[in-house]
Amino acid sequence: MSLTHIVTWSHLLAQEALKSGDLAIDLTAGKGRDTCMLAAAVGPDGRVVSFDIQTEALLHTRQNLTDAGYPVADGAAGQPLPATAGVTLVHACHTAIGELVQDPIKVAVANLGYLPGGDTAITTSASSTIAALEQVLPLLQKGGRLLVTVYPGHPGGAEEGEAVQQLFTALPSADWQVLQVTVTNHAEAPYLLAVEKK
Ligand SMILES: C[S@@+](CC[C@H](N)C(=O)[O-])C[C@H]1O[C@@H](n2cnc3c(N)ncnc32)[C@H](O)[C@@H]1O
Repeated sequence: MSLTHIVTWSHLLAQEALKSGDLAIDLTAGKGRDTCMLAAAVGPDGRVVSFDIQTEALLHTRQNLTDAGYPVADGAAGQPLPATAGVTLVHACHTAIGELVQDPIKVAVANLGYLPGGDTAITTSASSTIAALEQVLPLLQKGGRLLVTVYPGHPGGAEEGEAVQQLFTALPSADWQVLQVTVTNHAEAPYLLAVEKK
């Protein structure tokens, strides 16, 4: 493994926490790599809910899931989350998570920024990212993890990362473990902000 490939650290921390039958959330489906990793980790009895605002991203994600043999269903903001196992794709802003998910979450990932190979002007933004993360935190079960990969190199990315850092840094250490994984010798390299509920 490449030591400085930050998404690999996110995957390792997610895979270590997840077990068969868990509920996992991907707040930014993108090309579906994180969603596929979560689907594999929760197994055939688990559930994954994956959000994106772009049709193109959800098409990529659906294709990757189907190719890998994972069952895929469509969800929508305002509808309750299916109780059945498998992956639910939601074409909506991740701030809709509070309407859909009431069950305890084991792992949520947010890989911020823009769709690789897509429109670089369509990126996550500090306000909706923070609103979504604030809804995820109270839903995390004991030992549950929230893993956020930040890309400070694009316009708005550094500010978004600082907002996430601020949110996580304010979490009381009696109840939360908070970790940052940073490449220290490369300016603007992606970094990981991770929390675990004690
Ligand atoms: C870096 S990509 C995600 C990579 C992805 N997790 C993967 O494994 O390929 C960021 C994604 O966030 C999506 N996005 C941006 N704003 C969003 C929002 N408010 N709600 C949900 N998704 C959003 C973009 O459309 C883009 O597809």
